[in-house]
Amino acid sequence: MSQKFVLPELGFSFGALEPAIDAQTMEIHHGKHHAAYVNNLNAALENAPKFFMDPIEDVLRNFNDVPQEIRQAVINNGGGHANHSLFWKVLTPGGSNQPVGDVASELMDVFGTFENFVEKFSKAAATRFGSGWAWLVLNGQKKLEVYSTANQDSPHMQGHIPVLGLDVWEHAYYLRYQNRRPDYVKAFWSVVNWDKVDQFYQENK
Ligand SMILES: [Fe+2]
Repeated sequence: MSQKFVLPELGFSFGALEPAIDAQTMEIHHGKHHAAYVNNLNAALENAPKFFMDPIEDVLRNFNDVPQEIRQAVINNGGGHANHSLFWKVLTPGGSNQPVGDVASELMDVFGTFENFVEKFSKAAATRFGSGWAWLVLNGQKKLEVYSTANQDSPHMQGHIPVLGLDVWEHAYYLRYQNRRPDYVKAFWSVVNWDKVDQFYQENK
C-alpha cells in the first residue's frame, strides 16, 4: 500500500500575505481546515487504499471510479485537499504580481484586457452563493475559462485544469473581512503569484 495523502508545507510564513490575508487566518486555514480535509480524505479511503496510489487530481478526474458509499466524502475532502494545495502555490510570495509569459498573452486573447479578466473572475467569486471557489482553468478545449464551483468541487471533476483559484469560503476571510467578501477578493489580486499561474498554464496547455 502506498502512502496516505499528506498536508503539504505552506512554503511561506503565515504572516507573509499581510495585509491582504492575515496571519491568524492563514494559520487556521492551513493547519486546521486543510489538515482536516487531508485527514478526512485518508479516513474515507481506508477501505479503498488503491486510491492512495494516484495523485489526488487523478482521483478527482475519475471520481466515478470511487465506490459510491465514499464518493461524496472523496469529492468533498479530496477536492478540499487539491483546491487548497493549488491555492497556497498561487499565493506564494516573491513572483510577479502582474500576468507574465504565455498565460498573459492568452488572457489578452480570451478576455481582451487584464481588467476585463479581473472583473469576470471577481464577479464569479463575489456571486458564488454560500461556500465555494472562483477559478481560472484550462478547459476541455485547452482554452482559458473563468467560473466558480460550489463547496469543494474541483475543476478536475470535469476534466479541467485549474491554474488560479480563490477560496471564497468564509473560513478564508471572515476574521479580517467579516461579511465583506468583495474587499477580500479585491485584496487577493495584490498577492497572486503570476509566475506560478504561468507555470501551471505552461505545464498543462
Ligand atoms: Fe479554504
